[in-house]
Amino acid sequence: MSRLQVSRRGFGVMAGAALVAGARGAQGQPALPPLAGTAESPMGPFYPVSHLAEDDADLVWLKGHSQRALGEVIEVSGRVLDRHGKPMADATLEVWQANAAGRYAHPNEMSKAPLDPNFQGFATLKTGKDGDWRITTIKPAAYDSPIGLRTPHIHFDVRGTGHRLTAQMYFPEDAALNARDQLYKGLGGEAGTSVAAGAGAGKYRWDIVLMDG
Ligand SMILES: [Fe+2]
Repeated sequence: MSRLQVSRRGFGVMAGAALVAGARGAQGQPALPPLAGTAESPMGPFYPVSHLAEDDADLVWLKGHSQRALGEVIEVSGRVLDRHGKPMADATLEVWQANAAGRYAHPNEMSKAPLDPNFQGFATLKTGKDGDWRITTIKPAAYDSPIGLRTPHIHFDVRGTGHRLTAQMYFPEDAALNARDQLYKGLGGEAGTSVAAGAGAGKYRWDIVLMDG
């Protein structure tokens, strides 16, 4: 069990005690139960050691290229919230993922799957005043790894004011593959916090909850 899991449960106990004691919000309303924090996941071996010249929120088109990245174009958006549900403006997100063939552009990569010279693979962005963020990317493929199958996922490194979270986002349509992934299974009851919601036509929504804001 990680230190973060312990502290997250610790918060739950504290918050539960406050509710039993009849805690009231600022307007005299009963305090809402705290949100479940987004599950922590390892950064993994493919965090970019060198960034491409371009790192904007559109991973599909690179400036000066005449073709876009291969694969199914998707839009992923959401908010960064603290555990009270307050949107966190100016949080920093770094995002990285495999391409549509399941390959990372990284020197640790041992896969023989093809690189895609038109895929950005990495982005850095900040949340807006409502804690909102959005990327346009391609659906990453599953890939084989030393710990077995990795189901399709996108890596996030999120920095708020008091908490830095590394997490992986999974896709709701991949339930069968997710169930075979050791890292996903290791999240146990927290796995649900890591699965985006389908929002139709290649769109997904995923809110990230930082327990310490
Ligand atoms: Fe990965």
